[in-house]
Amino acid sequence: MIDPAPELIPEKIYILVVDDEEVIREMLQEAIGYAGYNCSIAENGTRALEILKKERVDVVITDIKMPGISGIELLREVKENHEADVIVMTGFIEDFTYEKIIHLGASDFIGKPFRNKELLVRLKRVLKERNLLVERMRIHQQLLDSMSELQDAHEAVHDAYLDTIKRLAIAAEYKDEETGEHISRISSYCELIALNLGLPRSMVENIRYASPMHDVGKIGIPDKILLKPGKLTAQELEIIKSHTTIGENILADSSAEILQYAHQIAGSHHERWDGRGYPRGLAGEAIPITGRIVGIADVFDALTSARPYKEPYPAEVAFEIIRQDRGKHFDPAVADAFFKDREKVICILQNMNPTCPIQHIKPFQWSDREEGTLSIC
Ligand code: C2E
Ligand code: SIN
Ligand code: SIN
Ligand code: SIN
Ligand code: FE
Ligand code: FE
Repeated sequence: MIDPAPELIPEKIYILVVDDEEVIREMLQEAIGYAGYNCSIAENGTRALEILKKERVDVVITDIKMPGISGIELLREVKENHEADVIVMTGFIEDFTYEKIIHLGASDFIGKPFRNKELLVRLKRVLKERNLLVERMRIHQQLLDSMSELQDAHEAVHDAYLDTIKRLAIAAEYKDEETGEHISRISSYCELIALNLGLPRSMVENIRYASPMHDVGKIGIPDKILLKPGKLTAQELEIIKSHTTIGENILADSSAEILQYAHQIAGSHHERWDGRGYPRGLAGEAIPITGRIVGIADVFDALTSARPYKEPYPAEVAFEIIRQDRGKHFDPAVADAFFKDREKVICILQNMNPTCPIQHIKPFQWSDREEGTLSIC
């Protein structure tokens, strides 16, 4: 965020008047002090440079013709080594001197003799410009600061992502699914549902990146069970259920937020709204919202995909199976968020899984588990 601009407060502004004539020094100090500014005086350039070294000075108002260091030399010195603006007071001078003064970086000049009022008007204008410049530099610096903060945040995400990829790579050796596309689809369905639920953007992103890891625990399940073409025995099913807690173990104790989400999702994506899920039999809102979201995305994706134990179902059939389980397996609110954008769901499905039949164009085989339980079509 950009802070508001500081006010142009005279009490916070420091002026240095340099003139060899005492009368002029004192007159100016009085006028400038009367206007509310802090005002120091110096009788020559050497003294002025001493003050500039020690004290804060915003504007130097200097005579040109002085014994010792001239006003022009002082101007050059100030512009080279200090931040102060310089207003030059000139008696009668040649035109080329004006050019030199401007070239050397004076902010303004004023011809002698002048009225105090005139000098104060010019001083105010110089201060205003100076304030704008300081403000611009300050904003510039703040932008640089927030850019580097953003970069730090990016690096944190990047680190977490690399950690994630590494863990996923371990799991990717598993062959019960077409891993790559399953991963992308789950991620997209979850993002869609989370957005429709109105979850905060950061949470949507975390779910999007964490959801693909929901099944990493399957790495711990023997192939002969996981790749079994037909229906599982009760005992085999119990072994398969442990993929949730195995996944939790794999993803435990990471300092990366995405992996903390992944940990939660691995342990909760097979819980059911009615409490009949696993591994803990949690019910309703005791199930983390992340798990309730991934739960629907996972079932929809499993239903519309080929598995060792099933053919892909048409999208309409998968929708119907999920609809019938709304309020039983699935959180009704999450189911509604999923159904809110059927077209987008189909889009995700079609782009990434061209083998899934969208309508009942060709006949398909029910999986063993559906036998006698479904009355769709
Ligand atoms: P998965 O294949 O990723 O399936 C995830 C979830 O989608 C399942 O969780 C289930 O809720 C739903 N689902 C998958 N296929 C079907 C289906 O044909 N019909 C219906 N109505 N729902 C389906 P669930 O049941 O807890 O299974 C967890 C994992 O266990 C599955 O992950 C899969 O890897 C394995 N599995 C489940 N059933 C069988 C099976 O009959 N044979 C084999 N070999 N594996 C199975
Ligand atoms: C993926 O690997 O496809 C999931 C991450 C993402 O949404 O970019
Ligand atoms: C989270 O940070 O929301 C997940 C907590 C966990 O189960 O690790
Ligand atoms: C579900 O609860 O949606 C899947 C379980 C089943 O149909 O057997
Ligand atoms: Fe699972
Ligand atoms: Fe899955």
